[in-house]
Amino acid sequence: SWYKEEYRPQFHFSPKEKWMNDPNGLVFNQGVYHLFYQYYPEDIVWGPMHWGHAVSEDLVHWKHKPIALYPDEHGYIFSGSAVVDKNNTSGFGENGEAPLVAIFTYHSKEGEEAGRMDFQTQGVAYSLDNGNTWNKYEGNPIIQNDGIKDFRDPKVFWHESSQSWILTLVAGDHAKFYTSKNLKDWTYLSDFGKSQGAHGGVWECPDLFPLQVDGSEEEKWVLIISINPGAPNGGSGTQYFVGDFDGKVFTSNQKEPKWLDYGTDNYAGVTYNNVPGNGRFFIGWMSNWNYAQDTPTKKWRSAMTVPRKLSLHKVVDDYFLANYPIDKISDLTNSTLVNEVEVAANTSDTLQVEGLNQSEIRLRTAAKNFKLLFKNELDEVLVLSMDSKNQVFTIDRTLSGKVDFQEDFGAKKHVAPLKGMKENVLEFKILMDWSSMELFVDQGMLSMTEQIFPTVPYHTLIIVNEDEQAPIVIKSIKRMESIW
Ligand code: FRU
Repeated sequence: SWYKEEYRPQFHFSPKEKWMNDPNGLVFNQGVYHLFYQYYPEDIVWGPMHWGHAVSEDLVHWKHKPIALYPDEHGYIFSGSAVVDKNNTSGFGENGEAPLVAIFTYHSKEGEEAGRMDFQTQGVAYSLDNGNTWNKYEGNPIIQNDGIKDFRDPKVFWHESSQSWILTLVAGDHAKFYTSKNLKDWTYLSDFGKSQGAHGGVWECPDLFPLQVDGSEEEKWVLIISINPGAPNGGSGTQYFVGDFDGKVFTSNQKEPKWLDYGTDNYAGVTYNNVPGNGRFFIGWMSNWNYAQDTPTKKWRSAMTVPRKLSLHKVVDDYFLANYPIDKISDLTNSTLVNEVEVAANTSDTLQVEGLNQSEIRLRTAAKNFKLLFKNELDEVLVLSMDSKNQVFTIDRTLSGKVDFQEDFGAKKHVAPLKGMKENVLEFKILMDWSSMELFVDQGMLSMTEQIFPTVPYHTLIIVNEDEQAPIVIKSIKRMESIW
């Protein structure tokens, strides 16, 4: 039946069928979290893009909705964002009803095939019934292109202090900022990034927002930029910059790239607009363009990461962005599979856990050298290692199951630097689903998101404590409830 197929994520969002990539139009409105997404309803590979649609009241359980936006005479509907136009600045509202406004990229296939450079423009659509039905604006496109080949992925938010809408989009190797009073007429403000951050590939899917530094009154601005290729462990990845935004210009002293996630499967992630309170909630596409179209699922392709809360931390003199599953995800834990187990220094332990593939594993340790092996009866194994000598955490999925559907997928270990940790005794949270593993160290100061395709489920967890002094405490292993 639905949602029990091989590799179907049990507590991650995936479309009922067919191809999905980036999350789009993340916005909260009238009690509902909207999740739109890049969608091709005809096949399980990328094609003419639509906006698929799902809604949730808790960011955990989702209801599928009909396709929201279809391609039209201006092109395919690429990635973008959505806002609630509370004061009806756009004039799209009727009878005092605030419109939901989507701002997205049009990709003209004809323009591309004709060898033109201006085939990506920005368009607008609005909904007067909280996202159920959509109207395209007759004045589209609202931002023309004067010859930049990659010119896309507008993220819009309401900027309180300048009382205007701010739009960030990407133009190949940098971001561009625009301002508007009505969501239709846009004025160019500034550029950022030509000589900062990583430039191993095209910049995609930007997001700009303020965040308060944890434990202080200081507020900084964070700019998220996805890049493909050029990620630290190959292919697609997400970098971020911490700096300031004055309503016109984003500045950052940061020269070196910082990465939001060191796994290979967290891409094109952006955050929710219009959430009550200060929460910054992020969802990423749990795949990588290197092999996204080759993964061994049949009815649908790819899933989203669990929703994560972002937080900003100052460690010594540097700022780090942490991302950690929202509390409601951990509320999905129902039965306890393993109670507290201590693995002493220089020993190992083997736990047989039925249901390991749909679980939350929490551990706490000061050990600086250890391995966690997830195994099945075919001896397929996923290995997580903490390696103090090289000051890295590694994930080895080279023998984790099906890996040979594409050459990059199982080619090498994925490595993350162990820097910026706030604590000495580290907390680890691992979320295992039927085809993914998400690792969070030190409350998300380090995260690694990985797809995995074991031929049969893992049921053995081997903890190898190679530390001379510190024990490893498995706090619990709990079964995760299915959201479907
Ligand atoms: C990122 C991306 C975006 C684009 C969309 C097309 O994965 O390439 O830049 O808008 O996917 O589907």
